[in-house]
Amino acid sequence: MRLDKYLSDMGIGTRTELKKMIRKGQVSVNGVAVKDPGCDVSEDAAVTVNGALIPYETLVYYMLHKPAGIISASEDPREATVIDLLPEPRRKDLFPVGRLDRDTEGLLLITNDGDLAHRLLSPKHHVDKIYYARVSGQVTAPDVAAFRKGLVLPDGLECMPAELEVLSVNGAETEGFQSEVRITIREGKFHQIKRMFQAIGMEVLYLKRLSMGPLQLDPELKPGESRRLTERERMALK
Ligand code: URA
Repeated sequence: MRLDKYLSDMGIGTRTELKKMIRKGQVSVNGVAVKDPGCDVSEDAAVTVNGALIPYETLVYYMLHKPAGIISASEDPREATVIDLLPEPRRKDLFPVGRLDRDTEGLLLITNDGDLAHRLLSPKHHVDKIYYARVSGQVTAPDVAAFRKGLVLPDGLECMPAELEVLSVNGAETEGFQSEVRITIREGKFHQIKRMFQAIGMEVLYLKRLSMGPLQLDPELKPGESRRLTERERMALK
């Protein structure tokens, strides 16, 4: 296929952008700089853009440790998004699978695989999402039971049963308590966990997603860091 088609299929840029990059000498094929956008390349050629290898692959999967302060969107006219945290050059067809609030940290899957995203997000499939949270107040056994039964929020929204595990309770009566919990939810409504705690009179002070279905946040990734999913992780998600 043509070199500019190869790179456009990989989502590196528009045909016009790519032609410019190729003519400027930013693209090499099998170690040789190529300035002709129409140059014939095979799918197994070693194509690099500014030294970075761009294999011919249709579906790509990244795990990002989302930091606080960044929005979960594909693009935004005003500010950086989670996609901007991925290494360059990055495909233009990537999107985050579901949203974490701006102040939430943790596991975010980024891909261009729409079918997988649909399966992971569809309420029908009930994929477990596990979060660590620090909340104001003392989480009690009746709170755990209420989450397990399925909370009804003040606006009438009925939540599916959620597992709430109390990890620790800190503080004292005078200065106020804080609880550390692990919570498992099977749906992903807007501000779901914050609204669930609000419904029992508590505030979420810190929230981090630890896992989504079989995919667990890699403890080696610092906030803002990402990596490709391994073959085993990809298989587990299918
Ligand atoms: N629940 C929330 O309230 N916020 C998130 O970011 C994720 C789940």
